[in-house]
Amino acid sequence: MDYLWIRGGRPLAGEIVCQGAKNSVLPLLAGAIVFRQGCRIHNCPQLTDVEAALAILTRLGCRVRRTGGTVEVDPTGLTGNRIPRALMGAMRSSVLFLGPLLARTGSCCLCQPGGCPLGSRPIDLHLLGLQALGAEVERAEGWLYCRGKLRGAAITLPFPSVGATENLILAALGAEGTTTIYNAAREPEVADLIAMLSAGGANIAGGGSAMLQITGGLPQWAEYRVMPDRMAAATYLCAAAGTGGELRLLEAEPRHLQPVLQALTAAGCTISPGAGELHLKAPARLKAVSPVRTAPYPGFPTDAQAPLMAALARSRGVTVFEENVFASRYGHVPALQAMGANIRTAGAVAALTGVPELHGAQVEATDLRGGAAMVIAALQARGISRIGGLAHLNRGYADFPRQLELLGGDVKLERRGLPDELGRTEPA
Ligand code: UD1
Repeated sequence: MDYLWIRGGRPLAGEIVCQGAKNSVLPLLAGAIVFRQGCRIHNCPQLTDVEAALAILTRLGCRVRRTGGTVEVDPTGLTGNRIPRALMGAMRSSVLFLGPLLARTGSCCLCQPGGCPLGSRPIDLHLLGLQALGAEVERAEGWLYCRGKLRGAAITLPFPSVGATENLILAALGAEGTTTIYNAAREPEVADLIAMLSAGGANIAGGGSAMLQITGGLPQWAEYRVMPDRMAAATYLCAAAGTGGELRLLEAEPRHLQPVLQALTAAGCTISPGAGELHLKAPARLKAVSPVRTAPYPGFPTDAQAPLMAALARSRGVTVFEENVFASRYGHVPALQAMGANIRTAGAVAALTGVPELHGAQVEATDLRGGAAMVIAALQARGISRIGGLAHLNRGYADFPRQLELLGGDVKLERRGLPDELGRTEPA
């Protein structure tokens, strides 16, 4: 069992480079299948979710080569259409292989995807859209079989699901004729996928808007650089803000982070966005902000809700959070409470009253961003915290402990027991 030991109380200060976006690289890797000659993707972060995506590609018969942050995928030898159960269980994004496999081979077989436990995470919108394109969907013995010749159609999504939008774009490239998606997700990661497909010759209009028009026809080959990770950026900004620190974040995209930057500014931070970078300076103690309501892009991102809550745990005043994207996304609250945070939840609402001080505790991450919130709280707390459940963090943060250390955090990654230098000085 791996643990992260954190002795809190040091303001994070310094400069780091923002990683490539997890939520972009995963659809890009699934999308690699629709390229006739393959693609080369730069700035791929070192994450277990990326490894899972590469394993799926390999199992499907693609040739995959990773050199540092660059991944080359050659799908010309694609033979399979079944995603192994273990890999489906490893991450939610494995469902993104459905659309491209249908586009490329006319069939796909998979089971329910895994991912963070954020309430029920159905894939009904993915399937409804694919059915509208002409796919037949059958369930048997825990497996889902999709097959059919796809034809362009008009699809209105009842909710602008990010994954469903990505899946449908990829499937529509294999359809005859034009597909229109109304109420499409406008997240920058969707636009990133469209940009890579377009670089390979795909004909997709409306990238970044709620109405997309996709003309059937597979792209040829593309070379592409993954956009900066706005969720990792939000996490490091919240960590610096909560600890009263000062952070220069390089290779970030301030335009993607507006609602988070607004909240941190309202909390008392001074933020200077530059070209492809951000500088944040925080006061010793933040102040409460007006209600934070999560919503699809360009609203406040649900993935930044837990990190911001942790950053505000020692703020002056009361901040109300309303989670509107996922049914259950307050899994981090008991851990923050164990560190002394004053938070009450009722359904989709959480009310946080800032306290002057947090204290170290032993806690367990139960999801990716919730785990990040625990780290942010631990960095501010008096004493030592031990955080388990690191597999969740490894899914989304490249080299997290090292990055925090670079910023001056007192952080140790241990595979067994309490590290000596911490153990001698203070009990956990
Ligand atoms: C993606 C992101 C995730 C982020 C989320 C919302 C990736 C790899 N993950 O997840 O980090 O938190 O967007 O911005 O990009 N829903 C249905 N039926 C469906 C699909 C979704 O009811 O078929 C619901 C979900 O349960 C959820 C909401 O729609 O309540 C949003 O989900 P969606 O936008 O699809 O998120 P993901 O693509 O899974």
